[in-house]
Amino acid sequence: MSYIKSALLDEKGFVVLDRYDQAKDPQEWFDLEYVNWKSSGDTRFAPLASAEGNIEVNGFWHHEPPRTDKDGVWIESQTSKAPHLTRRAQEPGTNVGRCRVIELQPTSYVDALYNLHQDDNNRLNPDETGWIVRGFFNLTDDPDSYLVLREERYDPATEIRLPLPAGSQVIVDTQRFWHAVWHAGPAPRYSLITSWESGPLLDAYIEKHHGHNDHVNAPLDDAIIDEAQDAVQRRLAERAAALAEKRRG
Ligand SMILES: [Fe+2]
Repeated sequence: MSYIKSALLDEKGFVVLDRYDQAKDPQEWFDLEYVNWKSSGDTRFAPLASAEGNIEVNGFWHHEPPRTDKDGVWIESQTSKAPHLTRRAQEPGTNVGRCRVIELQPTSYVDALYNLHQDDNNRLNPDETGWIVRGFFNLTDDPDSYLVLREERYDPATEIRLPLPAGSQVIVDTQRFWHAVWHAGPAPRYSLITSWESGPLLDAYIEKHHGHNDHVNAPLDDAIIDEAQDAVQRRLAERAAALAEKRRG
């Protein structure tokens, strides 16, 4: 399979863009309609674009006919309440699939590691077209929270922790990375997540906003990491045991 990818994004799997001045915009995310949808943690979603323009957030491949995460249908009742967010999602001018605001309740580092998952954005994506990546715009000011990325799910040496102050903007190949958010809290965190098709339009957008990938993690104590690694293994073992018990039962 060969897809069109952004060279800069493909180098490390993520790019960090200039920070956006979030404080100048109204807090449109509080006006949107949310649906309960269990993702990585205790979450709700407010879609701006969905498979058929309805207020639901299922993967496009679960619809009839199943399709990849492109050609999202904008939801007028939502976009009219969030013109700034809509404009930002549409700014690259490339194809948009799912576009939604996610609300996440606080999580611990252990929760985040337990919740690590890879997205499936490119399921059914036709060969020779653009690889689908995701933009994450942090809306609330969460400088002590992180988008945690790992190339290898259980290997902390591969971990990248991107901090989430208001206006932080990153693009991530979420099918490549295991990822989840470690949200310190105490209030819920809001983020705009948009599926974009890679190609010349997205490359130009990344360049316009000075995309780079020379991030260095803020230090995190080895003891905290080791303890969290152990806690995740314990949780996974407990879950496996509970499932086995259920099957026997
Ligand atoms: Fe994800």
